[in-house]
Amino acid sequence: MIVVLLGYMGSGKSTVGKQLAKELNLKFYDLDSLIETHQKMMVRDIFEEHGEIFFRKLESQVLQNTLKTKNEMILALGGGTPCYANNMELLKRPGVTSIYLRLSVSELVERLFLERESRPLIKNIPEAELPEFIGKHLFERNMFYNQSDFVVDCNSKEVATVVEEIKNLL
Ligand code: S3P
Repeated sequence: MIVVLLGYMGSGKSTVGKQLAKELNLKFYDLDSLIETHQKMMVRDIFEEHGEIFFRKLESQVLQNTLKTKNEMILALGGGTPCYANNMELLKRPGVTSIYLRLSVSELVERLFLERESRPLIKNIPEAELPEFIGKHLFERNMFYNQSDFVVDCNSKEVATVVEEIKNLL
C-alpha cells in the first residue's frame, strides 16, 4: 500500500504522515527530505542557487524514482509537487491512494506566518499580503489537489483526529 499525502505548505503532511506510518506500521518518507538527500542540499538552498525550475525537475525525478522503487509507504509530497510535470498522473495508478489535507486560507496564514523563514515561496511576502497570496495560490493549486482520491478537511482538527479519519478511508 502506498498512501500519498498532499496539500498546501503547512497543512501538516509530514506530521500527519509520520503518525499515520507509525500506526499502520509502514515506512514514512518526505519528498523534500528525499530531494535534500539526493542533492545533498537544503530545499531552500536549491531554490536560491539553482532556481525553482531546476527544483521542479528534480522533484519530479525523485517522485518517479520513489514510486518505482518502494511499494509500501506513506509519502508526504511538497506543497507544489502535484501541480508540476505529470506528477498528479503518476499518483493515479493502482495501489496508490492520494489524500488531500485541506485547510482554509485563514488557518494556513496563521500556521505559515510563523514558519515563513524556511519557506522560499513566501519568505519575502509581507505579513499583510500573505492572505491574498495564499488565497490566490491555493485557488490555482486546488484543481490539482482536488484530483486526489480523498479530501480530508483538517480545519481545527488535532493530528490524531486527522490520522483516524485517514485510517477509516483506507
Ligand atoms: C513548496 C513546498 C515545500 C517545498 C518547496 C516548495 C511549494 O514543501 O517543496 O519549498 O511549492 O508549495 P512543504 O509543503 O513540505 O513545505
